[in-house]
Amino acid sequence: MGRRALSLLIPILIIVATTTFFVSPSVATDAIDQTASITGNQTLVSAGGIFELGFFSPPGGRTYLGIWYASIPGQTVVWVANRQDPLVSTPGVLRLSPDGRLLILDRQNATVWSSPAPTRNLTTLASAKLRDDGNFLLSSDGSGSPESVAWQSFDYPTDTLLPGMKLGVDLRRRLARNLTSWTSPTDPSPGPYTFKIVLGGLPEFILFKGPAKIYASGPYNGAGLTGVPDLRSPDFHFKVVSSPDETYYSYSIADPDSTLLSRFVMDGAAGQVQRFVWTNGAWSSFWYYPTDPCDSYGKCGPFGYCDIGQSPLCSCLPGFQPRSPQQWSLRDNAGGCARTTNLSCGPGDGFWPVNRMKLPEATNATMYAGLTLDQCRQACLANCSCRAYSAANVSGGVSRGCVVWTVDLLDMRQYPSVVQDVYIRLAQSEVDALNAAAANSRRHHPNRSLVIAIVAAVSGVLLLGLVVACCCFWRKKAGKKRQFENTPSSQGDVLPFRARKHPALSSPQDQRLDGNRMSTENDLDLPLFDLEVIMAATDNFSEDSKIGQGGFGPVYMAKLEDGQEVAVKRLSRRSVQGVGEFTNEVKLIAKLQHRNLVRLLGCCIDDDERMLVYEFMHNNSLDTFIFDEGKRKLLEWKIRFEIIMGIARGLLYLHEDSRVRIIHRDLKASNVLLDRNMIPKISDFGIARMFGGDQTTAYTIKVIGTYGYMSPEYAMDGVFSMKSDIYSFGVLVLEIITGKRNRGFYDHELDLNLLGYAWMCWKEGRGVDLLDESMGGKPDYSAVLRCIQVALLCVEVHPRNRPLMSSVVMMLSSENATLPEPNEPGVNIGKNSSDTDSSHTHTGTNFTGTAIDAR
Ligand SMILES: *[C@@H]1O[C@H](CO)[C@@H](O)[C@H](O)[C@H]1NC(C)=O
Ligand SMILES: *[C@@H]1O[C@H](CO)[C@@H](O)[C@H](O)[C@H]1NC(C)=O
Ligand SMILES: *[C@@H]1O[C@H](CO)[C@@H](O)[C@H](O)[C@H]1NC(C)=O
Ligand SMILES: *[C@@H]1O[C@H](CO)[C@@H](O)[C@H](O)[C@H]1NC(C)=O
Ligand SMILES: *[C@@H]1O[C@H](CO)[C@@H](O)[C@H](O)[C@H]1NC(C)=O
Ligand SMILES: *[C@@H]1O[C@H](CO)[C@@H](O)[C@H](O)[C@H]1NC(C)=O
Ligand SMILES: *[C@@H]1O[C@H](CO)[C@@H](O)[C@H](O)[C@H]1NC(C)=O
Ligand SMILES: *[C@@H]1O[C@H](CO)[C@@H](O)[C@H](O)[C@H]1NC(C)=O
Repeated sequence: MGRRALSLLIPILIIVATTTFFVSPSVATDAIDQTASITGNQTLVSAGGIFELGFFSPPGGRTYLGIWYASIPGQTVVWVANRQDPLVSTPGVLRLSPDGRLLILDRQNATVWSSPAPTRNLTTLASAKLRDDGNFLLSSDGSGSPESVAWQSFDYPTDTLLPGMKLGVDLRRRLARNLTSWTSPTDPSPGPYTFKIVLGGLPEFILFKGPAKIYASGPYNGAGLTGVPDLRSPDFHFKVVSSPDETYYSYSIADPDSTLLSRFVMDGAAGQVQRFVWTNGAWSSFWYYPTDPCDSYGKCGPFGYCDIGQSPLCSCLPGFQPRSPQQWSLRDNAGGCARTTNLSCGPGDGFWPVNRMKLPEATNATMYAGLTLDQCRQACLANCSCRAYSAANVSGGVSRGCVVWTVDLLDMRQYPSVVQDVYIRLAQSEVDALNAAAANSRRHHPNRSLVIAIVAAVSGVLLLGLVVACCCFWRKKAGKKRQFENTPSSQGDVLPFRARKHPALSSPQDQRLDGNRMSTENDLDLPLFDLEVIMAATDNFSEDSKIGQGGFGPVYMAKLEDGQEVAVKRLSRRSVQGVGEFTNEVKLIAKLQHRNLVRLLGCCIDDDERMLVYEFMHNNSLDTFIFDEGKRKLLEWKIRFEIIMGIARGLLYLHEDSRVRIIHRDLKASNVLLDRNMIPKISDFGIARMFGGDQTTAYTIKVIGTYGYMSPEYAMDGVFSMKSDIYSFGVLVLEIITGKRNRGFYDHELDLNLLGYAWMCWKEGRGVDLLDESMGGKPDYSAVLRCIQVALLCVEVHPRNRPLMSSVVMMLSSENATLPEPNEPGVNIGKNSSDTDSSHTHTGTNFTGTAIDAR
């Protein structure tokens, strides 16, 4: 699945790119006719001053004709005419030809781009006008009435869908409107990602990267897109239209008087379709797909389905079992599931309904208009290759047709709320077994339906409470400013990641709260500390308050006025990062919240000072315990095991459960902090990106990779992925168990380092010998062995053999799981370890940061 690891740099570049193209003065008109043209830095501005059309030149020396917002600073380009035919010799000219085509001419008067010849003859009144909705519309008589339209930019979207534009196909007019990403934030030529409609049994919107499907919206069943349950908002109207003539998606702003600016973008840097809203001086993305791992196209393989609320995420449909149980247990789900019992292929087969499902991909399914579900069932039984059926053309709760799949069922996921039932064809014996099991579970839980009713009622009340609370919250905010706000009512998916306000900072009279919190206040909501406050709290950065020295600068302990202790990480002044990048970085980190990650409380920006304020960890870092003669005695097995589990959960969150994928790259004992209760917290995540520029790249690589924790493919080839973090985790687990440093340990007699030694002990069946001899208490030996086995799996040579964190957590926590046998660990190997999971990797040399795999 074409997931990309990408540098944080890229989103930053977008901001930079969209704000730094030169801004042109305008000629005060919104249209050109056959006597007028625009050239050089002249532009057209729509009547209400909302959009502007003209030539723009991103860095790189090429010039394009595009449309951007006139009313907001910078150039957020929403449409490009000649994305494949840039102007090289400028100034360019845009003019209307006598035969009614728009032409872009270069300095030599050569045509570099033209709109198609109009299908109707234009009069001398013809003109092309930029309207306030962003549409550049050429009409034959200048009226702009629908009958007179000869050409319009809305019919040729680039990467952006504005309110009122359509995404889909118009069969009559032979238009296929798709969104294709820019190649890079400074290059509008078509990039790898395309979001477009695919017509099949049922229409569906699919996100492609090249030919590969990355994400699918779920088929449109008449009532909605079955994979987008949250397509509703008080601020927008969404519409999917499916008729014999045209099928499309479009949206509009609910309040016609609203000045809300919104754009829906195929964002190539994130690999996501995102809806942005202009709010408080910045674009915020408040809706994006794919959102979570279950959105990944076909994640669970044929006949499997994904449920984000379950661990593991993938399950087989009832009546099916993993095709390869071993791969399945290692979270490799691509193989999917196979029938437990073959179909009889006669009327003897039955159906089992699975509910709350995103429908399987329906491009190869068949839609039967007008059939009832019962007729559909008969039709399905009559065809041996029929696998499932479901209601279609649903409206007002009534279906006026059905859809039948005669292919493998792919890309299903289950939602907590009702989407739609799918009837799966199974051998009758399977149906009977499932019925018996259901009856049995009812017998054992006679009150189950009552319990469900109570749970439903209670959660209904809770939900109502939440909605009311959200509304109040929204009202409160809306009252302050009659503008769009990122409120829970419209931002359900972002809400869980909002940084909480530091409690000590919430009182209005609080001096530490800088009056001008970051301009992006709404999506950050992270306190800014004043430099004086920090200086006072750290006694002017005194040596006494210094508690450590990280790769990025010193760390101080500080006591705030209210007595709260915090840790202040002062980034070295060599940082060449701008405030914008820093804020972006901090925003990202602020969004990460997990019990096993150190919490960011706020930051401080003052001239060239950049500081991060974290919660203070009383027990310092893990290395000060496990490698300390005195303190390691205190770490009984139970505590060590809890620490291992905690780190595993924190890493699982970074890798698989947070909104963005983060590769830590420097997991080691000194980066795991322990709080008062010895709960481990991973620190330094994402800090890698705090340093930009070439010079710091080398620095980063030197510091980030800590020898002894680096996986062979990272150390040798600079290739890293989740699997290299998992390698570091394996090393860390062995260190926690043995109390020995991987790097410091070397058995000269046996010529072995810690991993080799652990492997030898394991192979010889004396894994228990690895245990730290100075450890107090009586350990649970089976848990010790399980941890060692998991650690050895994590440090395998071949990245693909290392389990993902989700499996690691599962293997560590389940006492009677059968674990795979580890192979020899990956140390001292040659350079050809190239079989990394390439979709998650990134070559290190020109890479400056933490890999983020935005989903
Ligand atoms: C726009 O073009 C005019 C005339 O060529 C020139 O005087 C002016 O400096 C230009 N403005 C910018 C911002 O390039
Ligand atoms: C381009 O066309 C314009 C107007 O037709 C003319 O004035 C100009 O000389 C032409 N330039 C070249 C390089 O042919
Ligand atoms: C436009 O006019 C030309 C001549 O005036 C004629 O030959 C042509 O058929 C017309 N085209 C359309 C699409 O009406
Ligand atoms: C998207 O649409 C453009 C025309 O608007 C077309 O040239 C391009 O091939 C389409 N891309 C895909 C992947 O369908
Ligand atoms: C089920 O069908 C497959 C192929 O159609 C066949 O290989 C397999 O042996 C069958 N299983 C049983 C139990 O009949
Ligand atoms: C649909 O059918 C086409 C042609 O047979 C095939 O290439 C494609 O893989 C099928 N798609 C799915 C999702 O099964
Ligand atoms: C869906 O049902 C409506 C109302 O019966 C009908 O007009 C329409 O043609 C149906 N659509 C399809 C795609 O069958
Ligand atoms: C069963 O469905 C497939 C796919 O739609 C079709 O090609 C085949 O002709 C059907 N078979 C029968 C017996 O209807």
